[in-house]
Amino acid sequence: MIIGIPKEVMPGEYRVSASPETVALMVKEGWHVLVEAGAGEGAYYHDPQYIEAGAEIVTDVQDLYDRAQMILKVKEPLENTNTGKHEVDMMHEGQYLITFIHPAAPANHAMVKRMAAKGIISLTLDGVPRISRAQNLDALTSMSTCAGYKGILLAANYLPRFMPQIFTAVGMIKPVNVLVIGTGVGGLQALATAKRLGAVTYAADIRPDASEQAMSLGAKVIDLGVPAEQAIGEGGYAQQLPHETLLKEREVLAKHVPDMDIIFCSALVPGELAPVLITEDMVKSMRPGSVIVDISIDQGGNCEITPPGEVEVKHHVTCVGIKNIPGLLPTSSTWMFSQNIFNFAKYIIKGDEIVLDRDDEIIQKTLVTIGGELVHKGALEAIAQDK
Ligand code: NAI
Repeated sequence: MIIGIPKEVMPGEYRVSASPETVALMVKEGWHVLVEAGAGEGAYYHDPQYIEAGAEIVTDVQDLYDRAQMILKVKEPLENTNTGKHEVDMMHEGQYLITFIHPAAPANHAMVKRMAAKGIISLTLDGVPRISRAQNLDALTSMSTCAGYKGILLAANYLPRFMPQIFTAVGMIKPVNVLVIGTGVGGLQALATAKRLGAVTYAADIRPDASEQAMSLGAKVIDLGVPAEQAIGEGGYAQQLPHETLLKEREVLAKHVPDMDIIFCSALVPGELAPVLITEDMVKSMRPGSVIVDISIDQGGNCEITPPGEVEVKHHVTCVGIKNIPGLLPTSSTWMFSQNIFNFAKYIIKGDEIVLDRDDEIIQKTLVTIGGELVHKGALEAIAQDK
């Protein structure tokens, strides 16, 4: 089995899909691993470490694409400005690709159709179901963990005050208040991080389980008044709230927002646009210098005025809409991601063969293109709406 690890081509993407540690694991499996020269540099993993782990370093990335049976990547295929070619055009029929594809996102519709037409077999990590046997291949959970931690550090950095209580000769400085909205994977990590930095933490989620977990991390829970039967849907996930309930939720939050120094937004219903929970008027009610970090920005954001991909001061509040927060923690995020993607590859590689069990939930939910066809349900539905 020949595995290809190209350098990521998206500007500012410092992660890579294999660490020297996972290359060693792949070699132990009997796979031959091709790593593009310098692929791990952004994450502080260097070519000699990959060589020591048993990889072959390849300087011509087209050669890597030509020889590999399976390509492992972090980001969806994009234009490679160094070669002047789109990564889809560097791939060939029958080649496997595992990466984050986000196939339902409108920006990726043309790309996934081209992958299908080319006969590429692609699997997307954003489709991995949150079931216990898929835990060690769940890269989304790993990346949300990174975003929760680093997102709070960003907030602390933009905040013009101390986070913890500090006693000084000239008086006492009070600790700041941090509100986390949506205490799933990212939100819980944000709460734990804010607590360690000495903040007073508040949590708001519509799922009672999530609130309980927040409480166990020392957060004060804001009762949103949302009945559990409206909040919880299939598989115990949150579901989209009726509009009137959402308006009531906003009313509850509006009472607390003026007291918060940092608001961390990570509320999401899987497969939906993020609910708008912080309106522009609520931002105006915050103290000057406060910070909002909105990690749900890829799904539109929980705050009405978060600038996508940017950091802007609006109404004297710093609004952070940075999209690739795990990329700001490249060594740890690469370490976690590369473990997840190795486990995924190992899950489908049996000896010299790649075996896809189309009845398996993990394969069903992650498979995007196969046999010349686009088969991903979410992408097909989204593309049907294009017409
Ligand atoms: P998750 O599904 O574990 O958590 C989302 C939480 O939101 C759930 O606990 C759910 O109950 C809650 N929720 C849903 N509707 C709500 C509402 N109306 N009010 C309050 N809470 C509500 O999701 P996870 O993995 O923590 O991801 C959160 C967000 O972070 C996602 O949008 C994800 O795409 C994003 N993310 C962003 C990154 C970045 O770099 N910007 C990196 C990683 C994840």
